[in-house]
Order: sequence, then structure tokens, then C-alpha cells
Amino acid sequence: MAMSALASRAKTGVNGPPAASPQRPPDAAAASAGAPASGRHRPAQHRPAQPGAAAAGPGAAGEGIAGRVAADARKAGPGAGVAGSAGLDGAAQGSAGLGAAGLGGAGLRARNELAGPARITAAALPARIELAALPTPLMPAPRLASAMGLESLQVKRDDLTGFALGGNKARPLEYLVAAACAQGADTLVTGGAAESNFCAAAAAAARRAGLACQLVIAGQPPRHCPGLDLACSWGARVSWTRTAARASVDAALPRVAAELSAAGRRPYVIPRGGATPLGAVGYAVAAAELYDQLAGRGLRADCVLVAVGSGGTLAGLLAGNVLLGRPWRLLGAAVSRPAEETARRVQRLASDCLQLLVAPGGAAGRRGTAGLGTAGPVTGGPEALGEPGARLAITAGDFDLVDARGPGHGLASADGSRAAGTALRTEGLVVDPVHTAKALAVLPSVAAGRNAVFWHTGGLLDAIAAAGRTGDDA
Ligand SMILES: Cc1ncc(COP(=O)(O)O)c(C=O)c1O
Repeated sequence: MAMSALASRAKTGVNGPPAASPQRPPDAAAASAGAPASGRHRPAQHRPAQPGAAAAGPGAAGEGIAGRVAADARKAGPGAGVAGSAGLDGAAQGSAGLGAAGLGGAGLRARNELAGPARITAAALPARIELAALPTPLMPAPRLASAMGLESLQVKRDDLTGFALGGNKARPLEYLVAAACAQGADTLVTGGAAESNFCAAAAAAARRAGLACQLVIAGQPPRHCPGLDLACSWGARVSWTRTAARASVDAALPRVAAELSAAGRRPYVIPRGGATPLGAVGYAVAAAELYDQLAGRGLRADCVLVAVGSGGTLAGLLAGNVLLGRPWRLLGAAVSRPAEETARRVQRLASDCLQLLVAPGGAAGRRGTAGLGTAGPVTGGPEALGEPGARLAITAGDFDLVDARGPGHGLASADGSRAAGTALRTEGLVVDPVHTAKALAVLPSVAAGRNAVFWHTGGLLDAIAAAGRTGDDA
């Protein structure tokens, strides 16, 4: 059965098409949106997604997370690895759950139901575990809108995903950890900078699924890093690349995974930031969640702005936006890499995510490989959406990126600090200095006079750390 807008419907009990559709901005308006300083990106460099996670079917009511994933994997047929075994730091718990799975499982599938214009069959979505409290609130911010010269502003509160202070990391981890469980992995292996919010959230997600977590962190051990301290207290083990460049993590991840394998573990490697086609599915679904919320209130959004680091969040939103028929203009504030480089990453990730969702049979029978984000053949295409011949390619014109790095990745900017102060004074809205504040700072220039949504991606730990620093200086 073809259905549409993902996510919240089953939970809220709302069925059928939205009462009112967010209006699609006129092409002219869309074209002028954002006027990015350097964000135009090159034409799509298509890299098909590797067959990934299996379609979720009714899982095991009352089972643990891993058990429900395993039940779903069995529906995917032979080849879906669900072997149980002991692992590091209590990994046996999750693996035992895998082996003991039954059938049923409202928990796994409930929020995978689709409705609205996306027309993705439920079977097209990969399996997920439940980490986030969804849907996250959509809150009006009229005083901030007025301070920033916007027609209206809604804040999509993914700082409130409710999982381990992880903000926007919870949604991708729902799919990535499900794939790890389905493969029979006993250890999540990922990495990044010491301050990486993804690493901390991955450590917590591993615990939730009964897996161990090995983090590979760039550089030398820092004196104090709240996110990493938390990750360690949640059981993560840490190794250091001894090289400051974050890219050093990319080379180290497979090496560490090989060492774990040689020691008898079953590692599941997640690239920095969880930026893979499978991880991005979380935000493709989230786009439909926003669509439903806007439609349910009779609101329209001309544009949606989000902070962009590894690119997974924007890529998922982009794939979702295309599936929804491009109801709004997508804007990204690049806070980590130059805008052009970021745009290329986002476009490639979004294209691969889209392929993952629209290939015939969706993710069914492809469980467990997409988490690695590597390329592989995908057959079929948009016909799976019930729109024969529909063109769903993601193009350079589908989003705008603004360079919002300021003095550099991980460093607060003066503009961001001002925007953070405005958000706090007008709405009591807390943003962090290195991601969300920098994104908020570009909002007046990219959305002046328009109906905007600011996608708050979290960063609470950084916000608290920054507040502490302010206190020290005073
Ligand atoms: C608070 C916050 N916002 C936004 C981002 C960017 O998300 P992504 O890496 O998916 O682009 C991050 C990534 O670390 C983050 O921690």
C-alpha cells in the first residue's frame, strides 16, 4: 500500500492525508532563498547506495530492542545475520536478545508508518530501534522571528529528542544500531573529535542495544571533555589517533575494527557523524514528521535551516524533502567544512539515501550493509513510489549552503554568540556556540521576510560548557 509522510502518524493516531498541505514556495521565491555566499554545489556525482537494512515487519511485542530487530531480520529471509554471542562489556546481553527474538513488535515499526505525499511503502524503510522521543516539538518563536526580521519562525526541537543529550544524533543512530544488531555485531566502532556529540550518543546507543562501543578519537587525550567523559562513563573504550586532524579517524576506524575482529569481536563501523545513507534515513523520516506538524496546524514553511557538520542531517532532510515534493526550500549552515565541500558530501549522501528508500522492495533483503556507507549496485528507482517515470534525482539546485564556520570548526563566532544571546533573551531558547548558534546567526540573511523553520539540532553539552567558560572569564 502506498502511504506518505513518515513517522508520527501511527503514534498520534492521525490517519489519512494532512488537513492542510504546507504550500510549496513559488519557484522564484525558492530560487532567491538563501542567496548563499559559497554554497552552490557541483552537479550530482551519483554513487548508488549499497544494499542496506531490511524492511521492518511486525516485530516482537514486549521483546528487547535487539530482539525486535532480529525478528524483523528473520522476515528479511536468509542472509540476515542475527547470531548471538558474548562481546565486550556486556555485549552478550544484546546478542542473547537477538537469538531469543519472537514476532510481533509494535515498538519497532510503529513510527515507520508512512502517509502523505511521500508515497513510500512501509516496507521500503529500514529497520530501526527506538531511541528518540518522537515527534519532537515544533514551537513557534514569534519574538525571535521579529528580532530577526522574519515573517514567522517555528523551531523544530530536535534538541529534545530525549536520548542521552544526543540532539540530532538519536535519529540516525536508530537505523545504524538496528543494522548493527541485525548483522550480529557486538561492538559499535566510531570516532571523531573529542567533542563529537555523535560519539557520546553512539556510546549511549550501544548501551541501549546491549553492544560495546569503541571510540577512535582524533588527537591526544584532552584535559576535560564533557561529551567524551560521559561516553566513557557509559562504558565506551577510547583509542587516540595522536594526530589532531579529524580525518585521521577515517584511516584508523578500519584498522581498529580489524584488531577487534582479530580478537574475536564483531565490530560494526560507523563513519564520523553517522553520515551514511542509512543514517540519513532518520532525517528523511523527520522531514515528513515536520510536514505533518505544519500541515496539522495549517502552517506553511518557505524555508528550513539546519546546521551542517558531517552532512548526514541535511542529507536526510534533503532526501525527505524531495520525496515530499519539495514543500520548502532547504538551507544549510556549514559549520565544519567549506560550503562547497559540504555541498558535495550532502548531495552524494542524499542521493544514496534516496536510492535506499526508493529501490524496489525498499531496503528489504538488504539488511546490514548500508551502515558502512559504501557503494554497491541498486536496481530500480522512482517507479517504486508509484510514480512511473518520476524524476527524483537530487540536484545542486535543491538546497543552499552558507559558510557559517566563522573562526573555524569547534570555535565560537561573534555572530553566533550574538544570535545565541538573542535566542535566549527573546524565547529562552538555548543554542550551543559551535553548531546551532552559528546556524541561527545566518537566519536573518537567508530567510528575511519569510516563514522559516529553524531545525534545532541540540548541542546542549557544548552550550553548558560555553556557559561555564563565560563564567570563568567574568
Ligand atoms: C549540535 C549539532 N548540530 C548539528 C550537527 C551537524 O549534524 P551533521 O553532522 O549531521 O551534519 C552536529 C554534529 O555534530 C551537532 O552536534
